[in-house]
Amino acid sequence: METAQDITASLGVNTKVTLSAENLAAMMQRTEASLKTLRQKQQSNALPLLNLAERTDDLAAITELADHIRGRFGHVLVLGTGGSSLGGKTLLSLASSSSPAIRFEDNVDPHTFDSLIERLPLEKTAIIAISKSGGTVETLSQLAVCMDALRKKAGEAALKENLFFITESKLNPLTQLAERFGCRTLPMDPGIGGRFSVLTAVGLLPAAIAGLDIAAFRAGAGRAVAANLKAGAPKDAPAALGAALSIALAEAGYDLPVVMPYVERLALFSQWYRQLWAESLGKNGKGTTPTSSLGTVDQHSQLQLYIDGPKDKFVTLFFLDTKGQGAVIPADLMNMEGLGYIQGRTLGDVLHAEQWATAQSLQNHGVPVRIFHLPAMKEAVLGELLMHFMLETIIAADLLGVDAFDQPAVEEGKILARKSLETYAPVHKAA
Ligand code: PA5
Repeated sequence: METAQDITASLGVNTKVTLSAENLAAMMQRTEASLKTLRQKQQSNALPLLNLAERTDDLAAITELADHIRGRFGHVLVLGTGGSSLGGKTLLSLASSSSPAIRFEDNVDPHTFDSLIERLPLEKTAIIAISKSGGTVETLSQLAVCMDALRKKAGEAALKENLFFITESKLNPLTQLAERFGCRTLPMDPGIGGRFSVLTAVGLLPAAIAGLDIAAFRAGAGRAVAANLKAGAPKDAPAALGAALSIALAEAGYDLPVVMPYVERLALFSQWYRQLWAESLGKNGKGTTPTSSLGTVDQHSQLQLYIDGPKDKFVTLFFLDTKGQGAVIPADLMNMEGLGYIQGRTLGDVLHAEQWATAQSLQNHGVPVRIFHLPAMKEAVLGELLMHFMLETIIAADLLGVDAFDQPAVEEGKILARKSLETYAPVHKAA
């Protein structure tokens, strides 16, 4: 595996609250059954996520639609929420091209949305609505408001030209709209749930529009699948190791997993992970509460608590070797007394020194730390990381005895919101 996982620091740093090697070994043993099930599911294609990395048959349709949108529109608006938004946002963190301008809207705050609709040149905007169920109230509401504004601006014909949908191929409000207005649609695999869909069209269409190498994301994911499912023993399967570590630490009281990249391009990855872990594991009184953090920014906001607050955090750091990279800090401007240590250093040097200082301080104070040493920040590495954490989450769910793939409590909220809305008086604005 190109992405190294250094877990030695998690073991027994604090002499009072120690996760013993035996505890970890026992938990590792329990992951063996999960790995076996995953291997069987991969063979029978019972969990399509596990075979996604090998798939290339769907990439041509994604690329063709992305090219069409890139060639025709100056702006792209992606509508969707939860798993239908966070994955795409995460992938786009690697994009360097700003044409077309792509933005994601995952909320229904009228203040933000109304002003967005006013500002956006809708006639030059591709609107991509993503919803696996095709019935999520936030996404449908956003879409209806956009459709209405678009037809007023550019006429009804623009609905066919500017709207694109990603949804399951079954009868739902999105497929009905697509049918009615003749909009192009990419199908979502019914076997891949929202928060596991980042490497399907859900994430890959926006990524391809941004000019990213979508096959490389899949290839990286394939490395993570192989590293785990071809491993001879759980100790050699990085996701099994990560899941065992997380759950064993949680049982020892370290039940607040903190994900803290020292790579700004992973800031949204942390948000994606937070949803994946929380929504997959938080069931039947089980689960641990994930927190996302960013180095160096949160050293000046959260680190005091992580180091010196309650001993309940398990911190996962992501490092890139940034030494010598970036702009140089000119010595003649920083020639004041006591600043010799930054003269002539680069921004990458500062980031590098700070990340190691954080790891050291956390370890010195007995906080369990895991470090991912990333070889680079490119599509294949991100694909590998995403698949690693999806596998880790699935295995952690097995260890906790919960179903990683449902979200019954969220469904209840959706039903209540719908019932409540039924009691509101409809507003009929003049066309
Ligand atoms: O992971 C999930 O299943 C959820 O977060 C969904 O992605 C989210 O609720 C949006 O659902 P849908 O894609 O059906 O609109």
